[in-house]
Amino acid sequence: MPPQTSLGARDVTTPLLAVDRDRIAAAARRVMARCEELARVTATPGAIERVYLSPEHARVNRLAAEWMREVGMTARQDAAGNQYGRIDGARGAETPALMLGSHLDTVPDAGRFDGIVGVLMALEVVRLLRSPDADARRVDLPFALEVMAFSDEEGTRFGKALLGSSAVAGTWDESWWTLTDADGTTLREAFLEFGLDPGRVGEAARRPDELVGYLEAHIEQGPELDERGESLAVVSSIASARRFQLVVEGEARHAGGTPYDRRRDALLGASEAALAVERICRAEHHIIGTVGQLETFPGAVNIVPGEVHMSLDLRGEFDDARDRVWDALARDLDASMGRRGLRWRAREIHRAPAVFCRPLLQDVVREGILATRAGDTREDTTAEPATLFSRAGHDAMAIGAVTGVGMLFLRNPDGISHHPDEAVSAGDVARGIRALAEAVLHLAHDPAHAQP
Ligand code: GLV
Ligand code: MN
Ligand code: MN
Repeated sequence: MPPQTSLGARDVTTPLLAVDRDRIAAAARRVMARCEELARVTATPGAIERVYLSPEHARVNRLAAEWMREVGMTARQDAAGNQYGRIDGARGAETPALMLGSHLDTVPDAGRFDGIVGVLMALEVVRLLRSPDADARRVDLPFALEVMAFSDEEGTRFGKALLGSSAVAGTWDESWWTLTDADGTTLREAFLEFGLDPGRVGEAARRPDELVGYLEAHIEQGPELDERGESLAVVSSIASARRFQLVVEGEARHAGGTPYDRRRDALLGASEAALAVERICRAEHHIIGTVGQLETFPGAVNIVPGEVHMSLDLRGEFDDARDRVWDALARDLDASMGRRGLRWRAREIHRAPAVFCRPLLQDVVREGILATRAGDTREDTTAEPATLFSRAGHDAMAIGAVTGVGMLFLRNPDGISHHPDEAVSAGDVARGIRALAEAVLHLAHDPAHAQP
């Protein structure tokens, strides 16, 4: 039986994790290899695409379940298709859990790490702290540990993001059942095809008293850490978001025969709208807007576009600034469409408020990062770790509705994400695993959680 490690006095500079560098390096290598393995589970040969309730989703859940069992967890798929692993604490199944995790679904033509690395790092943290491996030094924790591999963070298939984590947070909205994918399959039909019962989705919901919090590691999806030359950051908050499907209506007519003063070209109206998004967002601090999808109808080379469908994704550090931008944009569109004799309408398909990470969880993540510097002569052990607000959305946003959340960011060289060139180094993954494990141990020391 491996020796039990008892938790000593709290000390922010002394690492609490009694594990050597080789073991952490091996854990990071395993994470990198598994990111490659998961990248091969794709609907699109030569690219990575794995959407909610697809055969690829089922395959990665089976792999994640196998890896959960390997580190001593019980594994099951929940009622919304999230893959879930658990190691009970002192009060058995009744012990409230610290949840770790991220998502396994992807955008189209994705990178290998967005979401995935956070799930795999969480499994390595469980292996370091709780696995019954012969060489593991088991640590008694005052909470159970759970790993969640969320099934739909990106919203690639149905347009609505965070479906998996919303089910877990108990914020599932019945109106979502009629959302459709590009083939016209409704979310309800996709549930049934995947083998899930739409009537039981509520069973995925967790109660606040079952959880002590949620910690998520994720690559930064921008360049700040790389520019600062730092590998890890504490996340302070996650940007608020709204997504819309816009329809611009004009009139389809002959491309040659219709003089300019008779045209009501929906694409020109949509183009003005896309430029207005950039102009109005740039004028507000920390607001970003993107038109990522645009389709013309009837979509022929010799017909003036009669209708355009376009998406709008709005993000902001604060909800009120985001909403101010949308109101200004709506006024701008009324005016510009009016000048062109066009009509427009919008359907909101996603709205998420800014979520602030719980101060205690920010503190333990910070202490985790500081602990990774101990004994490393190349590191300034006294400098405060970077604290960033996340411009990208994460499962933690949804989970914030049921429990406190904290996040750890890993450097992303060049900051590119939602692209096949997305990257993270094995060295940063190793530091991240250590920081996350230390964060868990620091949380275990906190008086609020210290009693089993
Ligand atoms: C998810 O990556 C998002 O921020 O859209
Ligand atoms: Mn993403
Ligand atoms: Mn992500």
